[in-house]
Amino acid sequence: MPALTEKKRPASRSAGRPAAELIFGDLWTFDPAPETADPKLKSRYDLFIGGKFVAPSSGKYFESINPANETKLAEIAHANAADVDAAYAAAQKAFSTWGKMPGKERAKYIYRLARLLQDRAREFAVAETMDGGKPIKESRDFDVPMAAAHFFYHAGWADKFDYVAPGRKVAPLGVVGQVIPWNFPLLMMAWKLAPALAMGNCVVIKPAETTSITALKFGEIIADAGLPPGVINIVSGFGDTGAAVMTHPTAAKVAFTGSTEVGKIIMRSLAGTDKKMTMELGGKAANIVFDDAPLDQAVEGIVNGIFFNQGHVCCAGSRLLVHEPVAAAVLAKLKARVRTLRVGDPLDKNTDIGAINSREQLDKITELVASGVKDGADLFQPAGKLPGKGYYYRPTIFSNVTMSHRIAREEIFGPVLSVMTFRTLDEAVEKANNTAYGLSAGVWTDKGSRILKMSTELKAGVVWANTYNKFDPTSPFGGYKESGFGREGGRQGLLDYAKLI
Ligand code: NAI
Ligand code: MG
Repeated sequence: MPALTEKKRPASRSAGRPAAELIFGDLWTFDPAPETADPKLKSRYDLFIGGKFVAPSSGKYFESINPANETKLAEIAHANAADVDAAYAAAQKAFSTWGKMPGKERAKYIYRLARLLQDRAREFAVAETMDGGKPIKESRDFDVPMAAAHFFYHAGWADKFDYVAPGRKVAPLGVVGQVIPWNFPLLMMAWKLAPALAMGNCVVIKPAETTSITALKFGEIIADAGLPPGVINIVSGFGDTGAAVMTHPTAAKVAFTGSTEVGKIIMRSLAGTDKKMTMELGGKAANIVFDDAPLDQAVEGIVNGIFFNQGHVCCAGSRLLVHEPVAAAVLAKLKARVRTLRVGDPLDKNTDIGAINSREQLDKITELVASGVKDGADLFQPAGKLPGKGYYYRPTIFSNVTMSHRIAREEIFGPVLSVMTFRTLDEAVEKANNTAYGLSAGVWTDKGSRILKMSTELKAGVVWANTYNKFDPTSPFGGYKESGFGREGGRQGLLDYAKLI
């Protein structure tokens, strides 16, 4: 194994680096460490309606591929309007019993979903990574345990209706329609299902077209848990299926997570109806580093903020605002850290950055990065070999970015960070809030009073202080402005699935 001393490095590699820097990423070649659990994939996945897997009425299926190597994983049923009708009819029928069931009985089913998911955690983690491209260490340590945690937490609420809105009584809404994105397929499903079920609603849910497998595998868990048929119905498909789910007359409420563009289409199509809505849309979060921040810790938070899940994160810290006195130091530390990130096979336990979810998303990232170069920002991408097949993108840092650049304004949804500087707290707030979005923000400083002031002034649904991307089922998550409305998680999230009586 090569020694990790500066003088053993090839001259060209050490140029411009601090002398004491350890360069794990490009000198140590790790042996492959693939996760080997069997994801137990079927060659074909049908719709899950009324407690059973049923073929789509059109007979049409589409392919889900593994973005890490572009191979086909399975065929997925494409639901049309008739299938969506059948799903709503099943949900409506189930509501007549599920909606009246004592909370403590309903809780047992939700608890069982959590336990069965835990039992099959490794299998689900591998399936999630293969279908979506995220590193196995993330699906194994974050997505799947967090999905189970949401069911556990909400199981605890099912018999506590009297505490959801103190002093008021609450009741279920009825049948709810839900459409979810491809960045956290199983976790977004759990975020949507758990509060809806806890409050006594029945559900029709559509997973995203590139990542339907874990949702449909969850159908197996729903059946194994013995949930009354029709309480949860899963209809896979594209935007047409999503539109049918969102606009169905039976839906008392709809919940959507995805792009702001599609969120607006859904809101327009529902204008004038009395459906309740929650929208969790895009973001362009500012991660703000003050000169008194613990810089090494901040650098870890910046890396996690933008490179977690290849940057396919609505609350990603995609704009770094750094205080001018420490800007050069932060940028140097950040580049050194990014050089150590391992990009490659998502199933390898050492991989930090996996595959981009789809060819379309890779094209979108590539186009936006090209616009950053054209607009005059400075591009940094570490060297290193990317796999020959599959959709991969290097971690990317743009410095000298201005607020007018597209890379500072548009959601890239990829591993691309735009770095800007500020001189005063007011300038940081002004820049952070100067966006159409308002989902999340990060603040790094030693001063508690500054954290409080920033979290008051930042127009963002979540503000993390001296950390980033911390999630918990007890903590509500949601946006301001074009990032959407409504909250998911905590008591606030339950209120979006209940009516006050
Ligand atoms: P999208 O918003 O089109 O897809 C999200 C979900 O909505 C999918 O399940 C899709 O099938 C469904 N859908 C599409 N059209 C619909 C319609 N008219 N009615 C109802 N449902 C519909 O997002 P897409 O195209 O996959 O990604 C485009 C961009 O959106 C990304 O590059 C990213 O910037 C952003 N995005 C943001 C997300 C977030 O959580 N903030 C999640 C996914 C995408
Ligand atoms: Mg796929």
